[in-house]
Amino acid sequence: MKHILLAAVVAVAASGVSAVGPLYLDPKQPVERRVDDLMERMTLDEKIGQMCQYVGLAHMREAEKNATAEELAAGHARAFYKGLSSYDVEAMTARGEIGSFLHVLTATEADHLQKLAAESRLKIPVLIGIDAIHGNGLVRGSTIYPSPIGLASTFDPALVEQSARQTAVEMRATGSHWAFAPNIEIARDARWGRVGECFGEDPCLVSAMGVATVRGLQDAGALACVKHLVAGGVPNNGTNAAPVEMGEGELRNAFLPPFKAAVEQAQPWSMMPAHNELNGVPCHSSSWLMEYVMRREYGFAGISVSDWMDMEAIASKHRVAANTKEAFLLSVLAGVDVHMHGPEFAQDMKELIEEGRLPASRVDEACRKILEAKFRLGLFENRYTDPAAAKQTVFSAGHRNTALELARRSIVLLKNDGILPLDKTKYKKILVTGPNADCQATMGDWVFDQPRENYTTILDGIRAQGAAVEFADVGWNLRTISDQAVRAAVAKARACDLTIVVVGEDSFREHWTEKTCGENRDRWDITLWGRQQELVEAIHATGKPVVVVLVTGRPLAVKWIADNVPALVQAWEPGSTGGQAVGEVLFGAVNPSGKLPMTLPAHVGQTPIYYNYKPTQYFRTWIDGTRDPLYPFGHGLSYTSFAYSDLKVEGQLPYTVTVQVANTGTRAGEEVVQLYLRDDVSTFTRPVKELKGFLRVALAPGEKKSVTFTLAAADFSYYGPDGKLRLEPGAFTVMAGGSSRDAALIKTAINYGD
Ligand code: GLC
Repeated sequence: MKHILLAAVVAVAASGVSAVGPLYLDPKQPVERRVDDLMERMTLDEKIGQMCQYVGLAHMREAEKNATAEELAAGHARAFYKGLSSYDVEAMTARGEIGSFLHVLTATEADHLQKLAAESRLKIPVLIGIDAIHGNGLVRGSTIYPSPIGLASTFDPALVEQSARQTAVEMRATGSHWAFAPNIEIARDARWGRVGECFGEDPCLVSAMGVATVRGLQDAGALACVKHLVAGGVPNNGTNAAPVEMGEGELRNAFLPPFKAAVEQAQPWSMMPAHNELNGVPCHSSSWLMEYVMRREYGFAGISVSDWMDMEAIASKHRVAANTKEAFLLSVLAGVDVHMHGPEFAQDMKELIEEGRLPASRVDEACRKILEAKFRLGLFENRYTDPAAAKQTVFSAGHRNTALELARRSIVLLKNDGILPLDKTKYKKILVTGPNADCQATMGDWVFDQPRENYTTILDGIRAQGAAVEFADVGWNLRTISDQAVRAAVAKARACDLTIVVVGEDSFREHWTEKTCGENRDRWDITLWGRQQELVEAIHATGKPVVVVLVTGRPLAVKWIADNVPALVQAWEPGSTGGQAVGEVLFGAVNPSGKLPMTLPAHVGQTPIYYNYKPTQYFRTWIDGTRDPLYPFGHGLSYTSFAYSDLKVEGQLPYTVTVQVANTGTRAGEEVVQLYLRDDVSTFTRPVKELKGFLRVALAPGEKKSVTFTLAAADFSYYGPDGKLRLEPGAFTVMAGGSSRDAALIKTAINYGD
């Protein structure tokens, strides 16, 4: 009997049919076996289908609604597909011809697509991707955390990881599984619209934030996507997707480390190549980047998803392929596994295989990774959303509290002559004005309109502090501030004791035609847009005190304001609870502790500008301008003060570095202690300093703490122009302080290799 049973089990296993039906549908089977079994059952068309991504139906129906018959037949206007209606896409999904979607903005649509996929022959669920950059912002009702540049300002990776976990929970609750995040590009140029969705200019900080975000997303059941590979943050003229020319040494020293750290420490499930070319090769067809560096050198084992129509751009924009079909061939052979987005790709892939120019094994390789992701996400067993669970998690109190704590820590006090925190007994009547005072500009990019009860504006936050507040409404559209509005604000300022002016940029995606910052909103100037500066100066001219709050996704060259206004607060884009946090900081309920993750230029002529520059960067300077930034990387004031002493380096590799930090002021505060290192003499040029560690420490008045870092061999090594890693003995300078500014740092010497 036992033999018969054993034989039966063997037969079942061989046939790929288990007691519960096909083996791949048996959750008790190992994922590898489920993938093998499913792959054996799939046709070539079905495998190619897994590589195809389409935009969501509502996205299409919006376009269909407004498009003329000619437009419908014409092209990809707003993601509309030539000759395909949303109904055709539904039918394709039910035939298993589509492996994933992006920008499906409701749980209802997500479930509908999964139901269609369940009708297909093999019932393979679809993956749904979305740009959940700082919360699941494209979905109404989500928790919106500070923009990544604000998250980076917290220098608090653990709290950022928590927000990523919560974002994944809200994504899954509303039917998405794949976050096209984090953006771990190194941002050095404030003209580029997307700096707000990055973690700043420093490889150490960006790496820490990228690892935290990948871990958070993936620990809570979403796929992360490290992007964009690589160097889109330094386009040669500041515009999105412009070319990048860069030596391998600089690439490996400054731009690739966040990708290396993410793969080695957090194993992201996916990556996305950049729009731009790198040294003559479009990133979307760079096997050096995707295959050699990411897969072979770093060990990346996930999915490479193209950016929006960027495979096509290899032909249409970069002109290194004669047509789209050739472009698809180059890109898939270089490593892209998923096409974002739409038709044409599948047919061309089929032809390329039939012509023997694309090995079917390449399709198998891509398809396997996509299926593995779906099995590991549990989508075969649990493909639908749970509305009851969604009610418990989306925009929950816990998520809001995390968003609030991040907003509080993200706010950077740039300047304060003592007027802050505001004394309500002294300033009895306070005017609030400015285009960003009472609108969703605080939400940042990759956020659509949120319910009014789900966010506090800065005006809300100031009012909540109990001050007597007047509001001079100049409208939220910072492009169209009227004469009348300026005059009315000035008149009210005269009648008040102090004015808070909230200005900056508008990245809010709902303000599609008005926005001045965010994706594809690159500027050749980085002063305040329109009449904002005039508004600030006119109010300043009344002689009453003025406090300026900047709500912006990019650094702004607000030199006049920094020189003339007693207090300047960088709020970045603080999210759903940002208004509350700004009010708490202005009135002292919260002691500001944010630090700049990106240098603030004094003038656009300084860009690109960054703290870890090479020794001859400012050997000369402009005859009509200063080399000094407005505020340097790592800068941020507090309502207390901190002193550094006893910087010591002890032991052997890894060295132990200790520094004493004391709160020398009268109130509790948090300080971000920063550790920098300089290679004093090297074979190839090295930056004047590089951040090698940071730690946020809380100190009571008068309290002193010893902060410890370690310096390992990797911290002393660097890549030469030949791309080879070098570790050279010799003199190094170790620095510690609360900013990258030299005057803020205490130093000590170390002889590596002694
Ligand atoms: C955009 C962005 C990319 C995003 C994608 C999908 O072009 O470059 O970061 O994930 O489209 O929205």
